[in-house]
Amino acid sequence: MYSAEQARKWQELSNHFLAESPETVNEPDLLLLRQALRFHEHRYYVLNDPLVSDFEYDQLYKLLERTEQSHPEWISADSPTQRVGSSLNEGFVTVQHLVPMLSLDNSYNADDLTDFDRKARELSGLDTIEYCIEPKFDGASISLIYENDQLVRATTRGDGVEGEDVTNNIKQIRSIPLSAEFSRYGIQQAEIRGEVIMSKQSFEKYNRMLTGQGLSPLANPRNAASGSLRMKDPKDVAERSLDAFLYHISYVTRDTNRHPSEQETDPLATHAGSLELLWELGFRSPQKEKKVVKGIAPVIDYCIDFEAGRDNLPYEIDGMVVKVNNIALQEQLGMTSHHPRWAIAFKFKARQATTKLRAVEFQVGRTGAVTPVAKLDPVYLGGVTVSSISVHNEDYIKEKDLKIGDTVLIERAGDVIPQIVKSLPELRDGSEQTIQFPKQCPVCNSELFKEETEAVWRCINIECEAQVVEKMIHFVSKDAMDIKSFGEANVRKFYELGLLKDIPGIYRLDYEAIGKLEGFGKKSLDNLKAAIEASKQQPLNRLIYALGIRYVGETTAKTLANAVETIFDFTTKTEEELLQLEDVGIKVAKSIHRFFYNEQNLEMLHQLEQMGLQCRNEKKENQGGGSLQGQTFLFTGTLTKLKRSEAEALAEQNGGQIVSGVSSKLNYLVVGEDAGSKLEKAKKINTVKIITEEEFLSLIGQ
Ligand code: IVH
Repeated sequence: MYSAEQARKWQELSNHFLAESPETVNEPDLLLLRQALRFHEHRYYVLNDPLVSDFEYDQLYKLLERTEQSHPEWISADSPTQRVGSSLNEGFVTVQHLVPMLSLDNSYNADDLTDFDRKARELSGLDTIEYCIEPKFDGASISLIYENDQLVRATTRGDGVEGEDVTNNIKQIRSIPLSAEFSRYGIQQAEIRGEVIMSKQSFEKYNRMLTGQGLSPLANPRNAASGSLRMKDPKDVAERSLDAFLYHISYVTRDTNRHPSEQETDPLATHAGSLELLWELGFRSPQKEKKVVKGIAPVIDYCIDFEAGRDNLPYEIDGMVVKVNNIALQEQLGMTSHHPRWAIAFKFKARQATTKLRAVEFQVGRTGAVTPVAKLDPVYLGGVTVSSISVHNEDYIKEKDLKIGDTVLIERAGDVIPQIVKSLPELRDGSEQTIQFPKQCPVCNSELFKEETEAVWRCINIECEAQVVEKMIHFVSKDAMDIKSFGEANVRKFYELGLLKDIPGIYRLDYEAIGKLEGFGKKSLDNLKAAIEASKQQPLNRLIYALGIRYVGETTAKTLANAVETIFDFTTKTEEELLQLEDVGIKVAKSIHRFFYNEQNLEMLHQLEQMGLQCRNEKKENQGGGSLQGQTFLFTGTLTKLKRSEAEALAEQNGGQIVSGVSSKLNYLVVGEDAGSKLEKAKKINTVKIITEEEFLSLIGQ
C-alpha cells in the first residue's frame, strides 16, 4: 500500500508538524497533513503497526481539527475528522444491494470438501481447480459502495436483496477508508463485501466496562458487532472499537478508456487478485491469511491447520471459506437457488454446548456487589470443562429467562470467559424453579441495596467479611502493592485464623504465630516479611490503586497521585476540584470524595502512614523546591533560544508543571514568534501572565 519512501515522507512530515506544533496550517499543508493522518490510521488500524504514539497522533489530529475549524470551507468529506458524525441516526433507510448478498453452503469435514471439488470439476470439465482459502470471519456482514473513490454508502446484509443504510455507523470503523484510489485501476464504482468484527481484546475490554458499570455483558464478539450496526448514536459505535475485513468485490463499473492492457494482468481476474487489490487500496483484506492452492487436498490441510491455530488469532473465526480462484470459472459454475457453486464454508467445531443449570450461588465482591454464579453440569467446551458461569445480575437473569433446572446453551468465544447464550424454554418439564435473588447479604446478612441506575445489588456494610477479605486480596495483588508470596490463599487463611482482620493488619502480622502454622518454614516466613517490608516503598499511585476505591483503576490512580503532595490532600478536595482532573467524571469524583470523607478510611490511612507506607508523592518532592513550584506553564509560537521540548523540561526541572491548553488553570503563557490563537485566548483571561522567552529564562535565573 505505502512504499518505504512514502512511509518515510509521511513520517518526516508528521515529525515536522509535531516539532513545530503550529496553531493551524495553510491549505497545501492541510492536504498533506490529512494524508499523513490517513497513513497513520492505516498503520494503526490495518497493519497494527503504528509509527507514532497515540499522543502524537492526537496532536496531529487536533491540528487538523483546529485548521478545519478556522477554515470550514477546506473540510472534505473524506477528512479523518468527518468520521465523527454529531447527528443521531433517525431510523435506517432500506436500500437495494447492487448484487444480492448470497450465503454459503456449509461443509464440516474432508469428505464434504472432496464432494464439493468433485462437483466443480464435473461441471467445468477441468482436472484440477485452483482454490483460494481464507478465514470465515465471525461478525456481521456489510456491503460498501465507493463512487469516484469516495465511500458513499454502507449497508447491512438484510434479507440479501435489500439491507439498511448504516453509513454513519460504518464510518466509525477506522480500518475502513473513507476514500480509496479505485480510479487508479480504472474503477468508477465498486461494491465491496466484508465482515464487521470486534477483536477478542476489544470485546473483553468493552464487557469489563459494562460489568464495571453494573450493566450486563454481551454474549460474544459476533453479537457485539452485529448489535453495533444499527445503533442510534454513532459515538456508541466508535466506543466499541470495531474492525472490518473486506473479502469480496461483488460489482464494478470500469472506465472504458482504462482497461488493463494485454500485458497487464487484471487484478480482478482472480479472487486472490481482488484481495490484493483491496489491500493495495488500504482495506484490511485477508491478504496475509489467504492461501492459493491447486486441488482439494491442500485445501483440506490448510483448513485443518488453521483450526488448530484458531485460539491464537486476535479475532473470532468460525471456519474457513474455500473459493474457486478464477473469476471466469466462478461465473461459469454459477449458483444453485441458494448458494454459489464456486464457494463453500468449512465450519469449525462448535464452541457451543448445552447443559443443565443446577443452582445459583451468590458471591460478594470487593465493592459489595452481589454476583450470581450459575452452577452447571460440567461440560467440555473448546478445550476446557465448564461447571460454573457468572450470570452477572438480576436483569441479566430476567433477560435470558433463566430458571433452575433449565437446559442452557453456553458458548466460549476463543479464550474469552464462557457465557450463557440463552435458555431453552421449549425443553422445560415444569419442574424448573425461578431464581430467587436474596434480599440479604449471603455473607453478613445485612440488607442489600440497589441504585436506580444500576442493575447490581450491593451489600453496603463495609465491615462485611466478604468485602474485607476481597479488599485485602486486592491490596496485596500484583498490580496493586505486589506483596509477593502473600496471595489470596494466605489472606483467607490468616483471616480465618484471626491473624489478620484489616489492611493495616498486613503490616502488624504476628510472625511467631504464623511460624507455627503448617507450611511456614523459616525461609517462607523470611520471604513474606521481606515482601511486606518492600511494599512500604511502593509509590503513591500503587497505594491509591490498592485501596480499591470504586472506579479508580491504575490509570486514574496515577492521575490522582500526580495531583497531590500527600494522600491526605484528598481529604480537603471538593468534588468540583476532582472533576478538573483528567479522565475524572462525575461518578469517579463522587466515589473518590466519598472514600476520603469516610472516618474509618481516614483512620486506616493514618495507620498506614505510621507503618511507613509511601503516602507522599515522591516525584513531586524530588522536583520540589524549584522556583516555579506550583506554577503551570504553556509555551506557544516559535522560541528562538530553546527548543520547545528543552523549555518544557527546564520548567519541569524547576518545579513547574506543563499544561496542554489555555484556561484559568494556566499561570504563565510563554510566547515565541508568531504566536496565534493561544495568545489571543490568554489575553482574555486576567489571571494568565503572558511572558517572553527571555522573561521565562530570567524566572529560572538563567
Ligand atoms: S464470501 C458469495 N467470505 O459468511 C460469497 N463470506 O454464509 C459470499 N463470511 O454472509 C460470502 N467470512 O457474512 C465470504 N471470507 C469470507 C467470509 C464470509 C465471513 C460470512 C458472510 C456470509 C456468510 C456466508
